Amino acid sequence: MKDCLHDIKSRLPKLLEQIILSEQIKALEDLRIEYLGKNGTITLLLKSMADMTDEERRNFGKDVNELKVQITEAIDARKDLLVQEELNNRLKSEWVDLSLPAKTYRRGVLHPVSRAIAEISEIFASMGFSIAEGPEIEDDFHNFDALNIPQHHPARQMHDTFYMPNSLLLRTHTSNVQIRHMTDEQPPFRIIVPGRVYRYDYDATHTPMFHQIEGLYIDRNITMANLKWTITEFLKAFFERDHIPVRFRPSYFPFTEPSAEVDIACKRTKNDLIIGEEDSWLEVMGCGMTHPNVLKNVSIDGKNLQGFAFGMGVERLAMLKYGISDLRDFYSSDFRWLSHYGTKPLKIPSMTGGLS
Ligand code: DAH
Repeated sequence: MKDCLHDIKSRLPKLLEQIILSEQIKALEDLRIEYLGKNGTITLLLKSMADMTDEERRNFGKDVNELKVQITEAIDARKDLLVQEELNNRLKSEWVDLSLPAKTYRRGVLHPVSRAIAEISEIFASMGFSIAEGPEIEDDFHNFDALNIPQHHPARQMHDTFYMPNSLLLRTHTSNVQIRHMTDEQPPFRIIVPGRVYRYDYDATHTPMFHQIEGLYIDRNITMANLKWTITEFLKAFFERDHIPVRFRPSYFPFTEPSAEVDIACKRTKNDLIIGEEDSWLEVMGCGMTHPNVLKNVSIDGKNLQGFAFGMGVERLAMLKYGISDLRDFYSSDFRWLSHYGTKPLKIPSMTGGLS
């Protein structure tokens, strides 16, 4: 051990020079570990004193301690300098000119789909509908079979379904929640179901994910007249017009009988589409009286209870109301588009305070 001590003593000037010339904090740290770490040379020397006589220890200890202090001080001093240098460099490169005009913060807005869902929900809430939700990953039974769309029914092809393993699929419409709600809850039912739906389709008027709002009203003595009134009142409130001509055009959906598609009157000028002015018709949703087979599939006595259902595309209604021309823009995440068509998050639609 004495040899070792001598060895270090003789190397000390070189070591101190090495420390002073170090350019990296990491290199200093390596030296510190080599000499002062748990198994460092100096540490081992200090440990070796346990076996020495008092006499030996006195001189040896003094020498080792001196070495330790010198090396520690040299490393600390150099490290302080390097840290300071690094900070100075950062301050030089990261300076900010406080006299420049500040960048204004871009405030977040509500996406037009959220805005449309909030407006539509508010209108139906005012008519006593509550909001129901259901899974987006669904099975054949709830998305198709129970809605009177059996395995080889042509309507299945029209849905361009994304199939998943284990007979699961991404729901192609929010109608699945009709089945789930009627199975889980007790009648009467008066719900709307906003949510995402998925179809394998992409062009100017289709995106693989879009939003629908389903409606369901099952009670005693519900007729097509109730359906017609509800939809007409909804459309007037949504488009904020006192009068909108509405046409119920016979159509076909497997889960309703009779079924209809709803058209509203509109007028097209060169640049505008004016809703509510009679000129041509625009399709806005599907609807009908709930098919007896659907009621049977959820064990509801169709003699006592009956009702209607409807389904609408949220993006489509948003496009018509807010004057958006390309569906794909909804999902391009272009901040300019969002700030133009979005709304302030605190602007909550209300039937009394104003919808939009
Ligand atoms: N599920 C239909 C679709 O996705 C929309 C629809 C039409 C829903 C008529 C309904 C309805 O509840 O009665 O095309």
